Formats: sequence, structure tokens, C-alpha cells
Amino acid sequence: MDSVGEDAYVKWMARDPAETERLNSQHEFLKKTIGHLLHPTIQSSMPAEPRIADIATGTCITLRDLASTFPPTCRFDGFDISSAQYPPAADLPSNIKLHVADAKAGLPTEFHSQYDVVNIRYLIAAMHEDDWPVVSQNMLKLLKPGGWLQWIEPDLGSAFTALRGDINIPTSSAVEEAADAIGPAVRQQKYSFFTTELANIMQAEGYESVTHEVVSTDRLPELRAAGWNTMRRPYQQFWEGVEAAKGEKGKSKEYVAKRIGEIAEVAKAGAVYFRSNIHVFLARKSME
Ligand SMILES: C[S@@+](CC[C@H](N)C(=O)[O-])C[C@H]1O[C@@H](n2cnc3c(N)ncnc32)[C@H](O)[C@@H]1O
Repeated sequence: MDSVGEDAYVKWMARDPAETERLNSQHEFLKKTIGHLLHPTIQSSMPAEPRIADIATGTCITLRDLASTFPPTCRFDGFDISSAQYPPAADLPSNIKLHVADAKAGLPTEFHSQYDVVNIRYLIAAMHEDDWPVVSQNMLKLLKPGGWLQWIEPDLGSAFTALRGDINIPTSSAVEEAADAIGPAVRQQKYSFFTTELANIMQAEGYESVTHEVVSTDRLPELRAAGWNTMRRPYQQFWEGVEAAKGEKGKSKEYVAKRIGEIAEVAKAGAVYFRSNIHVFLARKSME
């Protein structure tokens, strides 16, 4: 396994076989919920054989899916700060290449001005307030003139809040306990910062045609349970991280797992549910 740079992401998130499985099912959920892999605006103005980069590619699932819909002569490059979740190279089509690189440090110059499309999805757990302009500028360097950046992030600022469902079904005290434990840490991480600021940042960095669309995770009501399934593990890991930071006073992993199980039960019964907003930003490099 290779990695580079300071890896803020591992404070909250795992890289193991269960996470690989979660990311791949989350991909299917996001594809249906957002309604596209590449926004129709990008698709309608791309060359016939685009070169596409996926930043923070994880299991490379987005590129594997995209590659199956483009001619084999198209070239795809995936980048991640860690190769831990990369599939074996032998399992990838020959037009997908994976690299290890830190989006915050910037990519080597050989990748500059190479891409018609740069995609980023769900890097949020690694992002601090100061990182958004830095990553925006680093992505601009990768684009050809007229190339598009598509950047998709969940608003984690509200994703861990249980909403009341059927008022006649009893809820669990674990719901309030989780909110009390996680709430301050979520606010401290400023996970909603980008929702109001990223479009302005992109404009200030020199992008053109900046647009910002918001999709609800329950846009397709039949996928509400699938949405909770994709969020349950990060919810649990986030709570575990908060307890670990308290040292000896913190609750054990076993306790957190038990309480999350109780929340899952009342969610399944319909007493509570979870939803959040997914933000889709598009921005274009000028033609000059
Ligand atoms: C939640 S996963 C999302 C994976 C993929 N984009 C997807 O949507 O399935 C976040 C990924 O960001 C990667 N990551 C974290 N910090 C990074 C950084 N500074 N530069 C590049 N990748 C990073 C992690 O290693 C992880 O694979």
C-alpha cells in the first residue's frame, strides 16, 4: 500500500474490506439519487474521446463505471492519497491508470492541462476550511482550456441528525445521546462551510460558468433505507472518534456499536429517519 502527505482523513474513516464494500454500494446509491455520473451540462460539451481524472478515487468505482460507457481509446486516471482500496491493476481495463497523490499538495506537472473533466466526490472528511481554495486551484491546473470540474460533496453538518418519523412509534434514548456526543465535533469540523462558500471560492480562483445544484438523499423515497445503510458506518466511526478523543473518560467501541444498533432499530421501525443534502458544483476553465 502506498500513501503520500498528511492524511487527515484517517482520523474519522477506515480503509478496509468493509469500507470498500460500503463505497461501492454508496456509488450505486449516489448514481441513482443524483441521477448522473457526469452532469448533463458536462456531457453535452465534452469531446468524443475525453480524458477524465477522478480525484480521491477510493475504490476507483466511478472510473470503472464511466470507462464501461466510453470508447476504449479514452484515458482515465484515478488519484488518491492512499492506494489501500485500489483494485489489483490486473482487474482494471488498460485505459484506467491509478496513481497516489495528495489533492491538497497538488499533482505532478505531467498531469497539468491534461483533462477534459476532473471529478471529485466525497472528499469532505479530509477537508478543513483552508483546504477548499487550495484544492480548487490544484484542480484548475489539471484542466485543459474549456475543461470541466465536477465536485460532489455531502453536507455532513446535518447528515448525522435523526429526524422524527412516525410519532406513534417510540424512539430510543440513543438518538439523543448520539446527537449530544457528535454535535459539537461536527460543528467544530465546519462540515457545512463549503455549502455556502465553494461556488464563491471557485469564482475567486478563476473558474467560469460556476453552478451549484443541491440534491436530497431522499429524492427517491424508495432509497431512504439504502441512504441510511451508506451513512451508518461513518456515523458509528465518527462517534467512536469523538469518544476516543476523550481518552479514558470516553465510551468504548462496543458501547457505541450497541447504541448505533438501537438507532438502526428505531430507524427500521420508522420512528426516525436520516436525510441530508448532496451538493453538486460545476465549474469550467476558461478557453484561453
Ligand atoms: C469517502 S471516500 C470517496 C471515494 C470515491 N470518491 C467515491 O465517491 O466512491 C474518500 C477518499 O478520499 C481519499 N482522500 C482523503 N484525503 C485525500 C487527499 N488529501 N488527496 C487525495 N485523496 C484523499 C481517501 O483515501 C478516500 O479514498
